[in-house]
Amino acid sequence: MKLSRRDGIFLVIILALITVLVLNRGSEQGKPLPADDAHRPFSEALARGADRETTEQGCVRCHATAARPLPPGHPPKEQCLFCHRPAPATR
Ligand code: HEC
Ligand code: HEC
Repeated sequence: MKLSRRDGIFLVIILALITVLVLNRGSEQGKPLPADDAHRPFSEALARGADRETTEQGCVRCHATAARPLPPGHPPKEQCLFCHRPAPATR
């Protein structure tokens, strides 16, 4: 099969799209949960197979307060554990 000019352009567009998706995924990922006493219960609950959406409802108990707010420009989503993975030690 002979590749035409159009095939080449198509290929470049696909590759650019994949690159953008891969880079975006990395930048959306926050830091993992710290392996300290405040976060260990969450990591352990997940390791036991707890539901992610139920578990992360406990995050805002500390992080939504004025004392420990999320950084400005933080992604405006509530699904904490989707981006902040449980501590590696308990995974
Ligand atoms: C008992 C209070 C408390 C709860 C509940 C809590 N955190 Fe934290 N979190 C803290 C404190 C205090 C710090 C800052 C000290 C530290 O870095 O360990 C912190 C720091 C963090 C950090 C920053 C780590 C870093 O390297 O800077 C992330 C990410 C985080 N928490 C995510 C979460 C998520 C996600 C949840 C829910 C699963 C959660 N936290 C639940 C108190 C809490
Ligand atoms: C869409 C992905 C995403 C979701 C969902 C998310 N975060 Fe984050 N989080 C990030 C990214 C990316 C950063 C680093 C941003 C920055 O430094 O400005 C971050 C930073 C943080 C930090 C500061 C740690 C540091 O970098 O010093 C804390 C604490 C935190 N997130 C807690 C939470 C909590 C609690 C929730 C749920 C209410 C949550 N995050 C939901 C992506 C996410």
